[in-house]
Amino acid sequence: MLGKRIFAPVLGGIALCAALTHAVPAMADDTPVSFSEGFTPIDPADQVAAMHRGMNVLGYDPIWFDPAHARFKAEHFAKIKAAGFDSIRLVVHGLRHMDAQDTLDPAFLATLDTMLQAALASGLSVSLDLHYSNECGTDPASCQEKVDAFWRQIAPRYKNAPNRVAFELLNEPHGFLDAKAWDGVYRSALAIVRQTNPTRNVIVGPAGWSSIDQLASLDLPEDDRHIIVTVHYYWPMTFTHQGASWVKQFTDLHDVKWGSQAEYLKVSTDFDGVKAWADAHHRPIFLGEFGAYDRSDIESRMRYDYGVARAAEAHGFAWAYWQFDSDFIAYDMKTDDWVQPILYALVPPHD
Ligand code: GLC
Repeated sequence: MLGKRIFAPVLGGIALCAALTHAVPAMADDTPVSFSEGFTPIDPADQVAAMHRGMNVLGYDPIWFDPAHARFKAEHFAKIKAAGFDSIRLVVHGLRHMDAQDTLDPAFLATLDTMLQAALASGLSVSLDLHYSNECGTDPASCQEKVDAFWRQIAPRYKNAPNRVAFELLNEPHGFLDAKAWDGVYRSALAIVRQTNPTRNVIVGPAGWSSIDQLASLDLPEDDRHIIVTVHYYWPMTFTHQGASWVKQFTDLHDVKWGSQAEYLKVSTDFDGVKAWADAHHRPIFLGEFGAYDRSDIESRMRYDYGVARAAEAHGFAWAYWQFDSDFIAYDMKTDDWVQPILYALVPPHD
């Protein structure tokens, strides 16, 4: 990628030289990115209110390795906003774009700059989420090294971003990142972020995949009042993950429906527990992921998405649907249009 960006213009004459000068400033450059809107601190509860209804985007898009093959285009942000969403969760597998010294690939950073600026220009709030799969290393120490390295580069880069941008330190800590290990890892990353972003709102969830029943294990620094707490909700997994190849025990499941009165009530009761924790700790809540895999029937998916989104709103949580494209889709890239029943469930037309 890097080689291509440097050498193609040399071969291509004047027009491509212009491309070179365009590419160079974004490269290996730790100057903070400038934004047309300045930063002012905002109470995390106000930020959650502004984030309101959101959409997870870009996590599995080819754009990160080759912008020429992007499925998601900057103009999709405007479509998301026009459809009634207030925020996006910008999902980046940042650890995949580091070299052996944990330096982020300048081409990745350039794409991130472009997407972040475009989302903001569309009027959306942004949670910049560090996602990972297996790149976190094999133990908490190696994971911490990489997560720290990511935020050591990203936090100063975006320190001038408007307060509509919040940093989410790490998606769904799990496995060797148990509650105790995660406590050390997130505090280290948070301290790095705080060096350049002392009052930006930072999003942190509990270990155990940020599941709501793990909230009690999350211990936050009392004196940091710029934290938003995130949880994910995929219960019951037998419904939301039926047919999912990446969850072995559910791969062969099918025809599981959702939408009984008891099921709606369970979501509401589950969120009562989250709200009680939030009130006791004075932390606002961001439901950063929920949804049902595309293998479930569309009526059940509609009921589930509607039920969870409305319950979150009734409890004062911001939410972000998982996800725009790839799987669980809310938007069909083939027709370049919304999956109407899902959009209808998430943003009811009468609202
Ligand atoms: C998590 C995973 C993502 C998966 C989703 C639903 O966010 O990182 O890959 O699709 O959960 O299972």
